[in-house]
Amino acid sequence: MDNKFLWGSATAAYQCEGAWNEDGKGLSNWDVFCHSEKNNVNPVTGDVASDHYHRYEEDIKMMAEGGQNAYRFSIAWTRILPNGVGEVNQKGIDFYHRLIDTCLKHEIEPLVTLYHYDLPQKLFEKGGWENRETTDAFEEYAKVCFKEFGDRVKYWMTINEPNYDTLCSYAIGNYPPNVQSLSRRWHAMYHLMLASAKAVNTYRKLGLNGEIGLVSDSYSIEALEDTPAYNQAKKNADLFFNRSVNDVCVYGHYPEQFIQKLVSDGVDTSYMFEEDKKIFQTGTIDFLGINAYDRILVKPYTSGETILTNNNTGTGDGPKAVIKDWFEFDDDPTTEKNPWGMEIYPKSIYDLLLELKALYPTTPVIITENGIGNYDKFINGEIKDPYRIDYLKGFIENMLEAKTKGCDVRGYLVWSTMDLYSWINGYEKRYGLVYVDFDNENQRTPKESYYWYRDFIRNYEE
Ligand code: BG6
Repeated sequence: MDNKFLWGSATAAYQCEGAWNEDGKGLSNWDVFCHSEKNNVNPVTGDVASDHYHRYEEDIKMMAEGGQNAYRFSIAWTRILPNGVGEVNQKGIDFYHRLIDTCLKHEIEPLVTLYHYDLPQKLFEKGGWENRETTDAFEEYAKVCFKEFGDRVKYWMTINEPNYDTLCSYAIGNYPPNVQSLSRRWHAMYHLMLASAKAVNTYRKLGLNGEIGLVSDSYSIEALEDTPAYNQAKKNADLFFNRSVNDVCVYGHYPEQFIQKLVSDGVDTSYMFEEDKKIFQTGTIDFLGINAYDRILVKPYTSGETILTNNNTGTGDGPKAVIKDWFEFDDDPTTEKNPWGMEIYPKSIYDLLLELKALYPTTPVIITENGIGNYDKFINGEIKDPYRIDYLKGFIENMLEAKTKGCDVRGYLVWSTMDLYSWINGYEKRYGLVYVDFDNENQRTPKESYYWYRDFIRNYEE
């Protein structure tokens, strides 16, 4: 891996590109979901989003002017293979060639995610990630991307957040296919991990000059009490959120305790084939992409059925979880939260990085997302977001502190480059360093945090 520390920001295709039916793009599950009545919390779509498809040059130029040297974006599978497999769409390929070349022209390192939640609808209709065939389709799609872009892309990421994606899609039920079943969740998640390992194996066979990783939403798991029951809840939550992803892609196998837990829960694991073990073993990653937003605070499970909820409205409480026989979420009433109930706790990244170092000492980390959603206000031509500056500053300081303790962190990317579609939270939950006026031809205006980040990068010395 290159020595230059990556300072940049990140986006994902469905959240910013728009152009949902242009230039031969196929339909994704998110296109269909957003146009359906199931999308009823904030019923808006990503049809136009931040119009990045047409304005990427302006966005990348702004990143460069903001001192950033890295841009993480995702490829929309449906632009490359409109049906998920088979026919290749040249216009989609051309778009990403232009995007990558524009990054390089501005000396911005492109970091490319192959899958960030948007699945071709054709595959979704055949069972999506619960169907093993989707893992082969992903491998086919990944191969097309590696061959087309692998000469210039040096950082690849297979899957964004196998944990959070499947939690929303199959446990909370707020993302398509809107299911609430943990056993179905484990099934889909297994296939995501298998698809990732298959893509890594394909990448290796092509002998390209670059690195490949996976993006994991990982958490420092903490408890307010230090008792055997609380400590057990922490261990369970660590398996549930972190190690069921990270052990698999770093070490190439599932943690034994995790499999035992599924078996004792009565989860059907017949889809885990013996032959897959080799695929996992050989499909291990070069670096771990970490999306770090907050910690997870747990207490022992007491009673009741499994239930998970999220706050997608910006009013009321934060996320809640009771995971039967595993743990429950706890709450620290003394810590600050954003309007969606996300705890603001910058030390969590320090604790997490040290934990990752202890578990995976030889695996480099890139912070692939960190940021905070809020209701930013455009007043007199300016956007003052001191809360975002405080948040980023706190996380960056803690990350750099972990680096001085020997954590091998190679980069840090703010979520997000500009305002974009925040999934079912809609457009009012803004994360961008750059404001997008969605009601006024998507005009861009850098926020106060953009300038703060630019100056921070300028003054940073390794
Ligand atoms: C991460 C995702 O989980 O968090 C992003 O990779 C997402 O796609 C970000 O937008 C913030 O979450 P949300 O739900 O507030 O948009």
